[in-house]
Amino acid sequence: MVAPSPSAVGVLLRGCGSATPNASISNDALGRRVETSDAWIRSRTGIGARRVIASDESIAELSALAAERALTMANWSAESLDLILLATSTPDDLFGSAPRLQARLKAFNAVAFDLTAACSGFLFGLVTAAQYLRSGAMKRILIVGADQLSRWVDWDDRRSCVLFGDAAGAVLLEASTDQRDDLEGYLLRSDGRRGEVLQLPQVEERLPLVGETSHQRGGFQPIRMNGQEVYKFAVREVPSILENLLQEAGISAHAIDWLLLHQANQRILDAVAERLEIPNDKVLSNLAHFGNTSAATIPLMLDEAVRDGRITPGHRIASSGFGAGLSWGAALLRWSGPA
Ligand code: UT7
Repeated sequence: MVAPSPSAVGVLLRGCGSATPNASISNDALGRRVETSDAWIRSRTGIGARRVIASDESIAELSALAAERALTMANWSAESLDLILLATSTPDDLFGSAPRLQARLKAFNAVAFDLTAACSGFLFGLVTAAQYLRSGAMKRILIVGADQLSRWVDWDDRRSCVLFGDAAGAVLLEASTDQRDDLEGYLLRSDGRRGEVLQLPQVEERLPLVGETSHQRGGFQPIRMNGQEVYKFAVREVPSILENLLQEAGISAHAIDWLLLHQANQRILDAVAERLEIPNDKVLSNLAHFGNTSAATIPLMLDEAVRDGRITPGHRIASSGFGAGLSWGAALLRWSGPA
């Protein structure tokens, strides 16, 4: 773990927001397309429905909505942002969607770029953003986790299509001017040796170019997932990284107000909570309504719990993101809220 040095600037969580597409697909509706049932999906995953982005909507648009809601909560102007980090694996444009988000927000004093780490993207983005604040280089940062996996799911593959949905979630971070620090610790990991269990691979198609030379055609295949292996990875690594983080930070699991995990499967949330001996009423879950929205799950859930009053200023949150890469990480956070 990289513990903040005593002289480093603290980081405050000042605002959050989220946005989801209007179209909701129930388990029963999916059952009319693939051989599945509401009972199977709910008992194996906890998911009841997922949102699907419309063909004329975009990740930049959804992200901008989430960001505007966060800016309103914090009472910040978009011009006051120094950096916009968009954690996504499914940009509208492979060159990146963060500058489009910047343009929509009219945040012209900010530099904007994408960060790709699949379902760990938001957590990795948060930790990345914190470094710019801790170094003193920046004061205000917007991090958005947003994905539109519906565009990359094979809707005829019942083993994966039932899991995913689309959403965007935003968080505003500010450099602390006092001793407070909402990022009490973090650990980040990746292991590319195990990456084949969850992929969104390129199409394999070589086309003639000139003479003997051919070129690889651009484009991607639908998501390929070995569900059981991903499940085993999550229930092994997530409790372990959270335990290590709590131990390094010298904080007991009893001191946690909320467990805010990447929303992949209710059984994964339950297994992690059980291992850490965190009671169910401290485990945040909105899987029933939104499914797995990849980089969006953590800020989407945070926003819901802040707005309905479950998370209040000063609460301590243990969070973990995990997914393709393979990648995983954990962070111990506090929610400060607007100044
Ligand atoms: O961000 C990370 C993203 N990925 C994940 O989080 C995935 C983690 N893995 C999982 O959540 C679970 O492995 C799944 C929910 C994907 C699958 O649950 P499972 O309990 O591991 O099921 P399984 O793959 O062992 O399949 C059990 C049975 C199989 O039938 P047979 O071979 O026993 O006859 C499957 O064909 O369930 C069948 N099955 C389904 N049946 C109805 C698989 N998918 C479905 C389905 N509806 N949608």
